[in-house]
Amino acid sequence: MKQYGSFDDATRSFVITDPLTPGPWINYLGNRRLQAFISQQAGGLCWYKEPQTRRLTRYHWLPAPSDRPGFYLYVRDHQTGVVWNPHFAPTCAALERYACRHAPGVTSFTGERDGVRITVRYFVPPGHDVLLWDVTAENLTNAARKLTLASFTEFGLLDAARELWWCYLKNQVGFHFDAAENWIRYDYHVFEAPYTPAIFMSCTEAVSGFECSRDAFCGKGGSLERPLGLTAGTWSNSQLPGGGHGAGVLGVELELAAGATRRLGYVLGVAPDSTQAAALRQHFSQVAAFDEAHAALQEFWANRATVLQASTGDAHADRMINTWNPLNCEVALNIARGISTDHMGVDGLRFRDTMQDALAMTVLDPARAAERVKLVLSFQGQDGSGNFAFWPDSPDRRVSLHPVRCDNTVWPVMTVDNLVKETGDIRFLEESVPFREGGAASVYEHIRRGLCYIDDRRGPHGLPLLFHADWNDGLAIFRDERAESVMLGMQMVYAAKLFAPLARRLGRTEDAAWAEALAVRYTEVLNSDVAWDGAWYARLLLSNGKRIGTAGRSEGRIYLEPQAWSVISGVGDFEGRGRRAMDAAREHLDTECGLMICAPPYTGIPEPTDPLTGNAPGTGENGAIFCHATTWAVIAECLLGRGDQAYAYYRKMLPSVAAERRGQDHWVREPYAFNSTVLGPARGDDFGAGGIGWLTGTASWMYVAATQYLLGIRPDWDDLQIKPCLPAAWGEVTVDRRFRGQLHRIALRRRNGDIAVSRCLLDSDPQ
Ligand code: GLC
Repeated sequence: MKQYGSFDDATRSFVITDPLTPGPWINYLGNRRLQAFISQQAGGLCWYKEPQTRRLTRYHWLPAPSDRPGFYLYVRDHQTGVVWNPHFAPTCAALERYACRHAPGVTSFTGERDGVRITVRYFVPPGHDVLLWDVTAENLTNAARKLTLASFTEFGLLDAARELWWCYLKNQVGFHFDAAENWIRYDYHVFEAPYTPAIFMSCTEAVSGFECSRDAFCGKGGSLERPLGLTAGTWSNSQLPGGGHGAGVLGVELELAAGATRRLGYVLGVAPDSTQAAALRQHFSQVAAFDEAHAALQEFWANRATVLQASTGDAHADRMINTWNPLNCEVALNIARGISTDHMGVDGLRFRDTMQDALAMTVLDPARAAERVKLVLSFQGQDGSGNFAFWPDSPDRRVSLHPVRCDNTVWPVMTVDNLVKETGDIRFLEESVPFREGGAASVYEHIRRGLCYIDDRRGPHGLPLLFHADWNDGLAIFRDERAESVMLGMQMVYAAKLFAPLARRLGRTEDAAWAEALAVRYTEVLNSDVAWDGAWYARLLLSNGKRIGTAGRSEGRIYLEPQAWSVISGVGDFEGRGRRAMDAAREHLDTECGLMICAPPYTGIPEPTDPLTGNAPGTGENGAIFCHATTWAVIAECLLGRGDQAYAYYRKMLPSVAAERRGQDHWVREPYAFNSTVLGPARGDDFGAGGIGWLTGTASWMYVAATQYLLGIRPDWDDLQIKPCLPAAWGEVTVDRRFRGQLHRIALRRRNGDIAVSRCLLDSDPQ
């Protein structure tokens, strides 16, 4: 089976050696303000904070070829006359050697042709809003060589919508080469624009030629694949003061003696105004500054890696737990379901998604999690309601309340409970956070109102109303706002069980008693015949008296979520129902590639009065393997003490395992990032192919499932609680875990069916 790339665990990187991967295999760069994604062909996009109205460069999602353009370095070899790219695209000139190395925060390329080796390292440092292209050119021959190097990026119009209204904007943007500053300056004067920054592209070397115009760079009849001027060795030195399609093309002539090496850098920068932009350019006018910036970035990731490092004996699990899952968590929390090669960057942040994305971050970076939690809560209504999506960097702090997701406000307590146990600082609950309409209340009060909001909207059986959908967006196909959600009912039980002890700690005994009574009340309904179907839990109680997710159905007979949540919430403790429900999930939903979200998938109209199914069978919420939901199955199996089953589900979800199963071509997606879904058996030959990469709640929840349930290391008020549920395959496990400033080494060993836990403190951790 064809291998396009493989892991280099020692350097925490994934190395791609063939640029023609089955799809763009991207990495994310960024410092939480300036962010970018970049593929194995250097395709990608750069934006500042929020990709809907602040995209600095342009990426074409729809036209073919896909994955164009990006952050290109062109090389013109004066000896051969060939124009090529070390990242292969867009010239696609053959390379004798190509390697793309994706690592947390850094992507680098090495391309070699005709005795010239070019290395480009792309990254955004923590302290500066610049995307740096750190270039090294080597002459591998014993004769002098002459090269022209040129950067290329296509400037975007910041606002995604304005990209479509391009015509009127020609007059309001300008691109100038300024020899004194050695940069191309992008002036943006669009009236009523929410954001008017100073953007530039500069170089550490004197520029020998430039193009501010994309079209001049391509030349008449030319293209990015074959830029005519560069191929002919001429520059038109185009400026676009009156607007046009702007580009950042800066050419540099290099004379390389036999065996010589030269280093130079390009800077794509953004600042609030031109004075600060000039200072930024000045700071990065020497490559020494690139080294400092790179060191700072490495320190950030090295620090992140000290939070938790596991050694389980399973290379797939180790590299995911130690490197790729934390990276995926960082990306998902910063970007939500925002922007990737699948998402066009107009979705904002989502209340429930971001709250879940913050869950793993409570361990990885509690301060960051706290910041994000407060941000999400600041978009909560005074009545306790959540929202569908919000845009914190829009001038009017835009919020979208529709469609209504009934589960929005069940999540905050899960994240906050983990956060205060991680830090040991309950005062976080008392911090004041505004509501979206104004006014403010404590974090605790936000959580309380959120739970009340759900509890106040119950249906005739006493379970929460569905409105448009709960966690499972696909339930919208039933168009039954008065349906009741079994899953959310169970989540409310779990939430109430977390909330009550928090309330007691704050002396709010009435609230605690309310939550405890709520848990009892919901549990009774959930274990009545209304929700229990004999061998598993139903999914929805429709307002017409029928039910979804029951044995009597020919399609959508069983859903995964309520089975897993019955165990997590403790609802299923009654008569061993949780265990039986998870057995049923295994029997009806498990496949060689993972657990389907429901089965059998809907093929058409479930009821004569119902609308057509939304997703095709075997995709999305209609019978795909849903990785996010599987995280709860892993947790549930651990809580049932069935480590082998938990591990089996966990392992199937690992992208590196999935990519090996039927090969990287079949998997299609990056072998190092979680997917939201995997195509289900109903997709025939495509069964097992990856769905949407990176931006999924799987990242956060799977990190929690692996570290807090399989490895069983959970923060608690006084100390770490260690309750592992190891599979038989893991004989001996070591975990280094930083907790409240101290580094703990925890060894887990299997002994006569039990697991012996030993732990010691390593040298006090300076972090
Ligand atoms: C996607 C959505 C998330 C939803 C899930 C299940 O991941 O972003 O909000 O809960 O699908 O439908």
